[in-house]
Amino acid sequence: MSIQDPEEYRAVSLAQWERSAAGWGRRAKDIQRTVAPVSLWMIEAIDPQPGHTILELAAGPGETGFLAAELVRPGGKLICTDFAEPMLEVARARAEELGLRNVEFRRLDAESMDLDTAAIDRVLCRWGYMLMADPEAALRETRRVLRPGGRLALAAWAPAPENPWASLAGRVVRQRLGAPEPDPEAPGMFAFGRPGRIEELLQGTGFADVRVQELDLVQSYESFDAWLESTLDLAKPMADLFGAMEPEQREATLADLRDAFAPFATPAGGLAFPARALVAAAGA
Ligand SMILES: C[S@@+](CC[C@H](N)C(=O)[O-])C[C@H]1O[C@@H](n2cnc3c(N)ncnc32)[C@H](O)[C@@H]1O
Repeated sequence: MSIQDPEEYRAVSLAQWERSAAGWGRRAKDIQRTVAPVSLWMIEAIDPQPGHTILELAAGPGETGFLAAELVRPGGKLICTDFAEPMLEVARARAEELGLRNVEFRRLDAESMDLDTAAIDRVLCRWGYMLMADPEAALRETRRVLRPGGRLALAAWAPAPENPWASLAGRVVRQRLGAPEPDPEAPGMFAFGRPGRIEELLQGTGFADVRVQELDLVQSYESFDAWLESTLDLAKPMADLFGAMEPEQREATLADLRDAFAPFATPAGGLAFPARALVAAAGA
């Protein structure tokens, strides 16, 4: 898969993540409650030890790396990175709240890292690589900065149909707007979903002992309105589409969404969607 203009994609993606940071900050604890098993799998896979230097890429609010920061004391540290400065501000505030003192924050583009070769013991990247214009470049960079014997753990998402909590709304909105379906392997949430793709990427960039696993989660919302509020807060492209709609079109789209979500309604009036994450570990 290639995207037409990687530079343009990077600029648009950066701007979207900068605008999304406040919402991610507001919702970081809720997100973490749902997806904690993913972080725990990743931490176990890299086995952080006192003295280690851990690098978290595309850290967003930083929750996964902060778990590792606790485990590398004494003597170790976490380098918490993201290409969006407002995300780093969210992560800084969260580290402060947690009382973490062994964390450095750096603005870093994972596709071209300003870091020394073989300087890092472990790398974490939860839901980051699949969003990048050139994930191979980011994985090659990851392997370069890891010391020999270092380890990587990453998370991605299984294909869209296995994640209706995140994909169904996009499909409904595209249908209403007559927009085309996206290329499933173009950068985005589901870009790593095809069975075998993560293995190909990791092996192709020189990683060894590659292990990929599915983890099933449940994404729950108290109500349809809570789903909408959360989605518009976290997913700026969706918020932009809604923002551009005329009031009647917006109402009709919301009615379509309510219909499409009916199979996931709970007796208490909420929504409970199945979600399937992919987690992977590899050695440098
Ligand atoms: C889906 S969020 C995940 C955040 C966090 N890792 C988590 O699991 O909660 C994606 C994050 O990747 C960051 N990101 C996207 N492309 C990046 C790149 N090329 N380099 C560094 N960070 C990037 C975004 O700014 C955003 O914070």
